[in-house]
Amino acid sequence: MAERETWTTRVGFIFAAVGSAVGLGNIWSFPFQTGSNGGAAFLVVYLAIVFLFGFPAMLMEFVIGRRSKQNPISAFRELGFGNWSFAGALGVIGSVVTLAFYSVIGGWVLSYIAGSATGAYFGEAGTFFESVSAGPLAVGTHAVFMAVTVAIVAFGVQSGIERATKVMIPAILVLLLGLAVWGFTLDGAAAGYEYYLSPDFQYLSENIATIVPSAVGQAFFTLSLGFSVMIAYASYLGRDDSLPADGGAIVVINTLVALLAGFVVFPVLFAIGVEPGSGGVGTAFVSLAGAFGQLPGGALLGAAFFFVLLLAALSSAISLLETPTSYVVDNYDYSRRTVATGLGAAIFALGVPTALDTGTLGWYNDVVFSFLLPFVVLLFALFVGWVAFDSASEELGMGTSLGGGFVTLWLWWVRVVIPVGIGLTLVLGIQDLLI
Ligand code: PFF
Ligand code: NA
Repeated sequence: MAERETWTTRVGFIFAAVGSAVGLGNIWSFPFQTGSNGGAAFLVVYLAIVFLFGFPAMLMEFVIGRRSKQNPISAFRELGFGNWSFAGALGVIGSVVTLAFYSVIGGWVLSYIAGSATGAYFGEAGTFFESVSAGPLAVGTHAVFMAVTVAIVAFGVQSGIERATKVMIPAILVLLLGLAVWGFTLDGAAAGYEYYLSPDFQYLSENIATIVPSAVGQAFFTLSLGFSVMIAYASYLGRDDSLPADGGAIVVINTLVALLAGFVVFPVLFAIGVEPGSGGVGTAFVSLAGAFGQLPGGALLGAAFFFVLLLAALSSAISLLETPTSYVVDNYDYSRRTVATGLGAAIFALGVPTALDTGTLGWYNDVVFSFLLPFVVLLFALFVGWVAFDSASEELGMGTSLGGGFVTLWLWWVRVVIPVGIGLTLVLGIQDLLI
């Protein structure tokens, strides 16, 4: 068996993990969720969840990955508790299913880049969405998106993922910042910021029982937690740098990108008076395209915006494919190229029904956000906190100057606070689904 690769540099790992985290969740879901759920009031709750639950949960996955230096299924066995492998396996299944849906939407983004540049959706945002989101064209763009994802993963950890994300992340940051500055100059800027961030504590408090579970799901999703992805990425760490420092940087950058996305999206929508629409992912495409189609320079700026979205989606997709790939490559005697291609083809097939009929997306949202994600993170917390806690604590303490107090606090947080918090969330989320 070939020797396992490691990231070339610490920054290489951080960029790859940021690439996984920054995605459709930041640029699509986050601004719209914030705008429609109470603005700055929602933001306070959401940030608290990200830092109090997301950050320590990310460290759990890092610890499992770096300690075992194995794929997410073998990792649990490597740490001495084989029967917990199902937890890692559930996460891997989540990443496979997610990639099927994610790649379909990645395909739409490809159509929107072309549609911006050619002006194809100008004046007909609604019909354009219909024609690119479901049908043969959507199957085709889904195939292209998946092929690019496979190509990057096939090249491996260093020459594929690390090399690609080292270019993609700076490009995302620079372009998004540029777009936000342009957004600031638009007539709709003030109204857009107002819609985005004006605090509505009353709305928040009246709806807290539904908002908190969906904010927890969104927080885990945006940080790429609960799909074993961060276990896989941390398993390629060769040196013991500070995991809390790396995790902190990743969480902060991911949050800044999400915030920045809102500073682009809402000025654009309000500049021509388009309703932000709190509907799903489709509404966001239609309303934004409607706006770009009317703005001066909309062809170029729309293309730039959708290009940012493509880079963000691609750098997440490669992490979703790397996770199952790492399992097969670690355990079977196939080349990485064969494995990435085979898995990519299977996941493409899994996504075809969605590329033909977008109705399945709602189902995905309900099952994965309200149930699978919190449930898998809960399993990881129980494993780290109550089963493998000795090696987990030791691993977290390596390379950090934070000292034993931080490790102890983290361990008890993982043991008690995270499971109780997620338990409550699950009850609320399931209740919400059933009503
Ligand atoms: N974090 C990505 C986003 O916000 O769009 C999506 C994602 C990627 C979720 C990888 C989970 C994952 F493992
Ligand atoms: Na994200």
